Amino acid sequence: MADNYNNAVTLAYQIIGSQEPWRHPSSNIIHHRVLPNATFAPWLTDHEFLSCYEKIKGHSLVDHYRCYELWTLAKQLNNVEGNILEVGVWRGGSGALLAQAVKDSGKQVFLADTFSGVVKAGDRDTNYKGGEHADTSVEIVSALMESLPIRNIKLLKGIFPEETQHMIEGKISMLHCDVDVYSSTKDIVGWCLPRLSVGSVLVFDDYGFFGCEGVTAFCEEFRKRDEFRFIHNLNGHAVFIKIA
Ligand SMILES: C[S@@+](CC[C@H](N)C(=O)[O-])C[C@H]1O[C@@H](n2cnc3c(N)ncnc32)[C@H](O)[C@@H]1O
Repeated sequence: MADNYNNAVTLAYQIIGSQEPWRHPSSNIIHHRVLPNATFAPWLTDHEFLSCYEKIKGHSLVDHYRCYELWTLAKQLNNVEGNILEVGVWRGGSGALLAQAVKDSGKQVFLADTFSGVVKAGDRDTNYKGGEHADTSVEIVSALMESLPIRNIKLLKGIFPEETQHMIEGKISMLHCDVDVYSSTKDIVGWCLPRLSVGSVLVFDDYGFFGCEGVTAFCEEFRKRDEFRFIHNLNGHAVFIKIA
């Protein structure tokens, strides 16, 4: 682990620039400040997105870069069979955004959360211990949906997949997985795999975030699969597109 880190420090100075990389003491995942140079900002001229984002941002931990990516990906699913599943809803912000993006498509958006916080934290996770983000409820999310108003959602309360998988039928065209830890992510993807349409999209929040090394570790394993294209979007999303 130390060699891996020391090599990264040397290469960062020699090739990339002068700033030193860092890592969590219990992980070999290397972090370095990410500052993309491109400045195009299409979210500032997408008025439908902005109007929705303004209403949901107080209910979300997801920043506008990632919200805009969810928005644009969801809007590209018209020819992909299946509904949308978000696991990791918290106060409903990103879920509301997804539902608004596909409101005229006939797609249902399933929003799954324990509503009592993160579960299945384990050895692969660094900062998460379990129980985080419990400061929400079905009532808080329902009130947000009613205020927008959004009708094409179904809330699933309980650990996914174990406790609520039976409430979903048919294919999946998009998974937004925002559960912070390795084992939950792995179990959710395992459930989705046989249900994914070709062309479906998997978006993993927290990819690359310091403190969420379990999610990054899962995505680094998953990207070895041939049936998906993988995109490391520098905003903190890992995006996979099913091609076969
Ligand atoms: C970071 S929050 C989600 C943030 C949300 N997407 C937003 O827009 O701010 C993570 C959520 O994942 C939920 N969670 C984690 N593992 C889960 C699992 N296996 N099943 C259901 N919910 C889970 C937690 O209860 C928590 O509310």
